[in-house]
Amino acid sequence: MRRVLVAFTSQEGQTHHIAHHVARQLEDKGFLVRLIDILQNETEAGADDCEAVILAGSIHRGSYHHALSSFIMRHGPSLREVPSAFLSVSLSAASDETDERAAIDEISNRFMAENGWSPERVKHVAGALHDRELNFVERQVLHSILDNKGVERHPSGNTELTDWTELDRFIAEFAQLVPPPRATDQSP
Ligand SMILES: Cc1cc2nc3c(=O)[nH]c(=O)nc-3n(C[C@H](O)[C@H](O)[C@H](O)COP(=O)(O)O)c2cc1C
Repeated sequence: MRRVLVAFTSQEGQTHHIAHHVARQLEDKGFLVRLIDILQNETEAGADDCEAVILAGSIHRGSYHHALSSFIMRHGPSLREVPSAFLSVSLSAASDETDERAAIDEISNRFMAENGWSPERVKHVAGALHDRELNFVERQVLHSILDNKGVERHPSGNTELTDWTELDRFIAEFAQLVPPPRATDQSP
């Protein structure tokens, strides 16, 4: 069975939601998924024995969580050997404005360069705003950003901008890149 590592960092929960969705999509396609929530300090056993890798992280104040870089440092050699993809989650990914798109491109490019990682595919995924996960100041700042853009906030306090259909298309394309299991694999 072809194995795919899906590892992520999530601060308010949306990348967690996205990574679990991606894992389910891959499992439905017949892959064996090793899912790791990096910030939970879970065991990382098996992370280096996959035929492909998807890393996901969200942007906060212009950068990703440092634990994502540490993960790449720990698993760099095996990660660089197989096809990989980076899912960069942010609010700006929902924007059509050229400067906002350029800003997130710059953030992801800098991150990959600093960590010496060149994934085959990079996807900017629009995230979400979960009010209950934000402190007072964060809520005020992010609400005013959305209001200025004319994005309607959901009355429940959960404003989701993720385009799940587009994400599914991306995953389906990435799945085509995954090679057959290596000869050492004993699983059926
Ligand atoms: C404190 C804070 C700072 C943020 N900074 C940025 C940012 O610089 N650029 C951006 O596009 N989105 C920014 N966001 C939006 C997050 O990337 C978005 O809410 C994402 O869905 C969070 O994913 P997570 O819940 O997995 O952490 C910020 C959100 C918060 C709460």
